Amino acid sequence: MNVQWYPGHMTKAKRMMEEDIRLVDLVIEILDARVPLSSRNPDIDRLGRQKARLILLNKADLAEERINSAWEEYFKEKGYYVVKVNAKNGAGVKVVHKVIAEACKEKIERDRKRGILNRPVRAMVVGIPNVGKSTFINTFAGKACTKTGNKPGVTKGKQWIRLNKSVELLDTPGILWPKFDDQEIGIRLAFIGSIKEEVLNITELAIKLIHYLQKNYQGVLKERYQADEEQEVGKVLEDIAKNRACLLKGGEYDIEKAAALLMDDFRNGRLGRITLEVPENIE
Ligand code: G4P
Repeated sequence: MNVQWYPGHMTKAKRMMEEDIRLVDLVIEILDARVPLSSRNPDIDRLGRQKARLILLNKADLAEERINSAWEEYFKEKGYYVVKVNAKNGAGVKVVHKVIAEACKEKIERDRKRGILNRPVRAMVVGIPNVGKSTFINTFAGKACTKTGNKPGVTKGKQWIRLNKSVELLDTPGILWPKFDDQEIGIRLAFIGSIKEEVLNITELAIKLIHYLQKNYQGVLKERYQADEEQEVGKVLEDIAKNRACLLKGGEYDIEKAAALLMDDFRNGRLGRITLEVPENIE
C-alpha cells in the first residue's frame, strides 16, 4: 500500500485552509462517527490552535449510538466541544447553534470588554473528504441565510454565510487530507469512502469488511443476504453474489460486483448502524 498518499491538489487546499483559518474564531471539525480517530487529521490541532474548537460526530445515524456517546465523552475530556449530528436529516444541528455560542463565549466577552458589541462569531468547517462537510453547511445554513459579500481588506474574495445575528460561516469548507501511516487506518478510510479504492481493490476491501462483521456484528450478513456467516470469507462473498444475482455471462458468480454492492450497502447504512472504531473508555 502506498502510505505516502497525498495528492497534489491537497497541497493547494492545505495552503488555502491555513489562510482561511486565520480569519475565524471557531473551527468546526467534522468527523465520521463510524471512525472518529481515523477520520481526523491531527495537524488540525496545530492549525486550529488559539481557536475555539468544536467537533461534530457526523453520520451519527450510521454508527452505534452507545459508542457515539462514548466518543462524545472521549473528545469532551480532551477539551473539545462535541455534538453528534446527522447532517443529512438535520438531527442535532439545532444544538450546534447553542454550542457555538458556548464555545465562543470567551471571545464574545473579550469583544465586549473592548467595547465591540455584536460582532458575529466567524466559523469554518473542516474535514477530510466525504465526511459530510457540504451537506452540513447546506443543512446548517438552511435557506433563510443570506450570503454576505466581500468585505474589502478583511475578507478578500471570501464568501460568508450569515447564519443569524451572531454567527457567520465561511461558505467553502476546508478540506483536510487523510493521513495514515498505518494500513488499518487506510482500510477504514477506504471503507467509509474517504479515499478511493487505490489502497486495496474492492474485493479485498469487501473481504476485510466481512472479517470485521463476522467478528463484531454477527447476524448482519445473514439478515441482509441470507449468507452463512460461519464460512470462510470468500464463501460469504459468494453467498452475497448468489443472493443478489451477481452473475457473469457464463453463469459464474460476479464476485467483484458483489463486493461493490456490499461496500455500497455498508456506506449507505443499509447494513444497520456499524461502528468501526471504539474508544478505550467504553465498558
Ligand atoms: P464532503 O463535503 O465532506 O466531501 O461530504 P458530502 O457533504 O459531499 O457528503 C458525502 C456523502 O455523505 C453524501 O452522500 C451525503 O449525503 C452523505 N452524508 C453526509 N452527512 C450524512 C449524515 O449525517 N448521515 C448520512 N447517512 N449520510 C450523510 P452521497 O451518497 O455522496 O450523496 P447523496 O446520495 O446523499 O446525494
